[in-house]
Amino acid sequence: MYSGKETLTAAEERGDGQLPDLQDAAKRETDRISSAYGKLQVLESDGHPLNRLERLSSMNGPMLAWYEGHARILPWRENPSPYRVWISEIMLQQTRVEAVKPYFQRFLAELPDVKALAEVPEERLLKLWEGLGYYNRARNLRKAAGIMMSDYQGRVPDEYEELQKLPGIGRYTAGAVVSIAYGKPEPAVDGNVLRVLSRVLASREDIRKESVKRQFESDLRQTMSADRAGAFNQSLFEIGAVVCVPNGAPRCGQCPLSGICLTNRGKLWNSIPYKAALRPRKVEERTILLIESGNFIAIRKRPDTGLLASLYEFPGLEGRRTAEEVSDFLREAGSSVIEIESAGESRHIFSHVEWHMTGYLVKVNSVPETYLAVERQEIRKYPLPNAFQAYIRLINGES
Ligand code: ADE
Repeated sequence: MYSGKETLTAAEERGDGQLPDLQDAAKRETDRISSAYGKLQVLESDGHPLNRLERLSSMNGPMLAWYEGHARILPWRENPSPYRVWISEIMLQQTRVEAVKPYFQRFLAELPDVKALAEVPEERLLKLWEGLGYYNRARNLRKAAGIMMSDYQGRVPDEYEELQKLPGIGRYTAGAVVSIAYGKPEPAVDGNVLRVLSRVLASREDIRKESVKRQFESDLRQTMSADRAGAFNQSLFEIGAVVCVPNGAPRCGQCPLSGICLTNRGKLWNSIPYKAALRPRKVEERTILLIESGNFIAIRKRPDTGLLASLYEFPGLEGRRTAEEVSDFLREAGSSVIEIESAGESRHIFSHVEWHMTGYLVKVNSVPETYLAVERQEIRKYPLPNAFQAYIRLINGES
C-alpha cells in the first residue's frame, strides 16, 4: 500500500538538496513560481519524489492562482491597513470568521485607529468585545496601542521581531500583519495552516508540539512567495477554512494542492493531522443566582485577575446548591426570599475549565448590598460574558 510517510522519509533521507533553481524561482515572482511548479510536477511524475522543501515550494503557484479566484470578500480584506489586519487577526484567533465580521465592523467604527484604541476606557472596550471571549486579547490590544502611541508614533510596527515585543502579539499575528499589510515574507502558522501543511506532506508529527510549528515556520520562510507573501498566507488560511476543513472530509476535488498532496494520494485524511490528546478539562460546578427585586437584577464585578477578569456576572456560589441552601445564603446576606424557582442548567467550556451551572431565579424584597442592583433594561450596558448567555436570555424574557 502506498504510504505518504514512507515516500516522504525516503525523500528526506536523500537529503540532497533543494533544487536551488526552483527554490529561488519560488521566492522571486509568481510567474516563475508557476513554472517551477510545472517542473516539479514533471520531476515527480518521472518518479523522483519531491523532498519536503520542494513539495512546499511547489505549493506557491497553484495556491496563488486559486486564491485570486476564490478569496472570500471579508471586511478586513478591504483596505488591509496594518491596524485593520492586526485587529482582525486578534479577533480571528479562536473565533469563526462569520462570528468575527460584525464585531470587526463595530470595533472599527468606534475605534478607527491606534490612538482611539489606546484611549478607550477599559469598560467600553470590554463591552465592544463582549461575546468574543478571551477578554485578555482585548486588554492586550489596548496595552499594545498605548505602546504604539508612546514608542512608535502611533504606528503599527512593520518589523516581525519588533511586533512580537508588544502584548498579545506572537509569531502568528506578527507574521500575518507584516505579510498582509507590509508585504514581507514571514509565515503565519495557525491551526488551519498546520492542518494543510501536515496533509500536503503527510506528516504524522504532533501539531500541538511547539517544535513542529517552528519547523513549519522555518520551512515556509524558505519556500513561500516573497512577492506575494500576504496573498500566500491568506490562501493557506482560506484553503484551511473552506477546502481542507477541520471537521469531516476535506474537499480534495476542489483543492489546488490535490496534485501534490500526499494525504490525498494515500487517502489518509482521517489520521492527519495528528494531535496528541489533551489533558481533560477541570470541571467546576457553580450555582448561578438571578436575583430580582422589582425591576432590579443583581450583578457583580469579577476580580481584576484570573478567568473573565473585570467582567460582570450574576452572583454565584461554588458547587451545586439546593434551593434551600440558596435561600439560607440570601437570608444571611440580608434579603428575604419571596419566591425561588429553577432557572435551568447550563454549561460553558473555557480552554482549561468547564463550568457546569445550575441556575435559580430568586425574587427577593431587596438586593443584598454587596451586589450591584441594575435595572433590567440597563443590564445590556455591562460586559457580561457569553458563559451566562442562557441566563441573560431568561432575564430578558427570550427563553
Ligand atoms: N483566519 C485567520 N486569519 C484569517 C484571515 N485573515 N482571513 C480569513 N481567515 C483567517
